[in-house]
Amino acid sequence: MISKAPLCIWYIFYRVLIEARIKTAPTPLPKPQPDLERYWMASTAHRLSQSQFDILQEKAGNAKATAYCPYSNFRVGAAFLSEDGIVITGGNIENASYPVGTCAERVALGKAVSEGHRQFIALAVATDISPPASPCGMCRQFIREFCPLDMPVIMFDKDGQYVVKLLEELLPMSFGPEDLKGARTV
Ligand code: THU
Repeated sequence: MISKAPLCIWYIFYRVLIEARIKTAPTPLPKPQPDLERYWMASTAHRLSQSQFDILQEKAGNAKATAYCPYSNFRVGAAFLSEDGIVITGGNIENASYPVGTCAERVALGKAVSEGHRQFIALAVATDISPPASPCGMCRQFIREFCPLDMPVIMFDKDGQYVVKLLEELLPMSFGPEDLKGARTV
């Protein structure tokens, strides 16, 4: 008759091996689901609904068509979402005297502010290149004047792929209106 003790030991050994195999086996990564990812990025991380995100993408993309850029042929579209749910757009406007040209972001924000919008919750910028372009330094400072530092800036490339950064990531240690509040008057 076969003793049961060695069988038990073999069984335990076998189970330990199996468990170890299960633990070390690489867990397959879930297949990326672009729509879910878009929604997560937009709503969870940046407090935007999926429809707000989609509208911003569409409006920034359409705003490229309003660009006047005969010198660079580099179209940029910008769309700001105001706190009251209005989207204000702009395209870059160039000039024969090159430095006089204005970026899409400043065109859009200038329009928005002059139309009475002063509170914003997101900005989308669209270009025809990949990877996406980000707002230039001058625009970052211009945006900083009116927008919260934790406002998302969504940058779309030519294929609708995007990168999102907070304004404070684009312009760290920034100088803003509140910095002038403690200034001494002469
Ligand atoms: N441009 C923008 O409109 N936004 C930016 O943030 C970067 C650059 C425009 C300015 C110019 O008309 C063209 O892109 C090429 O620099």
